[in-house]
Amino acid sequence: MRGLRGEIEIPGDKSISHRSIMLSSLGSTPVHITNFLRGQDCLSTAACMRAMGVTVEDDGKDEICVTGLGLHGLKEPAGILDAGNSGTTLRLLMGLLAPQPFLATFTGDSSLCRRPMGRVIQPLSEMGAKIAGRAGNKLLPITILPAEKPLQGISYKMPVASAQVKSAILLAGLYAEGETTVHEPFVSRDHTERMLEAFGVPTIRQGSSVTIRPVQEYRAPQAIHVPGDISSAAYWLVLASILPDSDVVLKNVGINPTRTGILDVMERMGARFECRNVRTSGGERAADIRVVSAELHGTAFGAEMMPRLIDEIPVIAVAAAFAKGDTVITGAGELRVKETDRLQAITNEYNRLMPGAFESGADTLVIHGGKMIREGICKSGDDHRMAMSLAVFGAAGKGVTIERPDCVDISYPAFYTTLSYTGSR
Ligand code: S3P
Repeated sequence: MRGLRGEIEIPGDKSISHRSIMLSSLGSTPVHITNFLRGQDCLSTAACMRAMGVTVEDDGKDEICVTGLGLHGLKEPAGILDAGNSGTTLRLLMGLLAPQPFLATFTGDSSLCRRPMGRVIQPLSEMGAKIAGRAGNKLLPITILPAEKPLQGISYKMPVASAQVKSAILLAGLYAEGETTVHEPFVSRDHTERMLEAFGVPTIRQGSSVTIRPVQEYRAPQAIHVPGDISSAAYWLVLASILPDSDVVLKNVGINPTRTGILDVMERMGARFECRNVRTSGGERAADIRVVSAELHGTAFGAEMMPRLIDEIPVIAVAAAFAKGDTVITGAGELRVKETDRLQAITNEYNRLMPGAFESGADTLVIHGGKMIREGICKSGDDHRMAMSLAVFGAAGKGVTIERPDCVDISYPAFYTTLSYTGSR
């Protein structure tokens, strides 16, 4: 494939889109959300909120409009809440619903049914929530019983950094008696904290701890603009870096510092890019990123970097394959509990395109860059980030046939269209 040229509009951030619907649902005035990501995951959140009486209007054009029912207005859903493939929908809503005076049962697709939920159930139960899940309170389906009395604020030390778990606890803390503090080993994405501020709810942040207190007042803003998703921009950043003759501008990329690990790692690998037109909107920073081709070389990073690039490892591994020398990634055990076991998926599938280049351990991934590339048939495993990273691998290499490619709809429905359009100019 020739180099990437021109401009690519980056679709809305998935994490921020989820939170924009959830937090707007607790207000009582309409919130106009622009650049909302209409990916399957965020549509799952919209469907769950509608099932609890929230009005979510979507004309399929520039914005969606959410009119909530007030902090205490959510209604008991008549059916089972289906989070689909979305860990964010499930985990954040568990936190939001644990304090409510009604019953809610969750399910999800086969991938979500395998993912660990004990990490959310445990702290919420410590706060007094009554939650029952399959396999000893660890897996879906999960039922949250009506809270008979207010939850109690806690101080909770998380064993692993996770924005989903942190956010669930903070949302429950919004309704608890006393203050709730979450301590993380490393700071994970802070979109919940930032958006709570936009709704007039202060959070106190110190190092890698966050505290929230219950509120009486909650003010929905009139509008939220969702910046582009750096996790989606990552595919083009890597592809443009690898392909010769690239000169492309990625428009409207969110550059919240808790998400920019990919920029730091790519810079260390020798990538050539610059952030232009940096601006702030709704408490989130965004920029246009110009990327030109570069000679990449291997690097090493570990656990402290992980929360800032957790979703980008599959595409960073592609960059590393085309780089000179080895790349060593440690402290990456969380990848085993994502939409698929991504360490296993990377070694199984990428080695078909570059035999012998990828080795994984319990929580490590080593990539021997610059080995012989070939064409191949690979499985997405219905994991959206694996499908897109495989497409980047194939486009930069000798081609790939991806089995079950449609899962990109989870986070980037226009991905293949953009790839064929941008790549053919
Ligand atoms: C997300 C947090 C991350 C990330 C996921 C989205 C969020 O999960 O992998 O895609 O929106 O909070 P963890 O923080 O649980 O690792």
